[in-house]
Amino acid sequence: MVVSIRQLAQWKKEQRAIAVLTAWDYISGRIVDQAGADIALVGDSLAMVALGYENTLALTLDDMVHHARAVRRGVQQALVIADLPFLSYQINSEDAMRAAGRMLKEADVQGVKLEGGYPAITTTVQRLVQAGIPVMGHVGLTPQSINQFGGFRQQGKSPDEANRILSEAKALQEAGAFSLVLEHIPTELARKITQLLTIPTIGIGAGPGCDGQVLVLADVLGLSDWQPPFAKVYAQLQQQGIEAARQFCQDVYAGSLHD
Ligand code: KIV
Repeated sequence: MVVSIRQLAQWKKEQRAIAVLTAWDYISGRIVDQAGADIALVGDSLAMVALGYENTLALTLDDMVHHARAVRRGVQQALVIADLPFLSYQINSEDAMRAAGRMLKEADVQGVKLEGGYPAITTTVQRLVQAGIPVMGHVGLTPQSINQFGGFRQQGKSPDEANRILSEAKALQEAGAFSLVLEHIPTELARKITQLLTIPTIGIGAGPGCDGQVLVLADVLGLSDWQPPFAKVYAQLQQQGIEAARQFCQDVYAGSLHD
């Protein structure tokens, strides 16, 4: 069944959980799709897990278009949503329209995700939605603001921060976002936001009270060098891959590949 944005709202009403995994190329897109995930998120975490950067800031719009196109070719059923990279949408909403337009026209994704919920961002979200571009919001720990946060730290611990995140969540819904990622915030705050909003929330490190959950596929598969404390690791593919490649090298050095 091909997943649509309208279905997500219905699933929230029915309390049917929404499963989201990230993907960064054709192979990871196929894995996510064939596993039955509802959304393949071309997250800008690909800067770290696929390109070896320390954070997401260096990623360009051209990089994202290139990776999203590859994911799109691997996905048949899941909804494909792609992150807009750092500074492709924060400067003004014209830039944001052009960036999101490229993602839809050149990579054929069905929507974009952008971080933050302060007024300039919600104005941009409103413009994108009015132009027919579905937008997923993202609040809490927004990795493009890593330098301001001073690390990948939990957000929303103080009452002031929690109130700010709650207001941002409401403003994004008001602006027309179809869904909202809640990253690394306290469980009770995520539950409260989920209960207050009519759009589905997708949690990562935000506890079980969200309408859906997302993880970075490289963490799930044990491919990444480092996983955040909230990531559940289901396989150890990096280790298995090294072992398989080592056996191949040994066969070649021993002249036994064709035995
Ligand atoms: O970039 C990403 O992978 C994300 C998810 C972790 C939500 O934004």
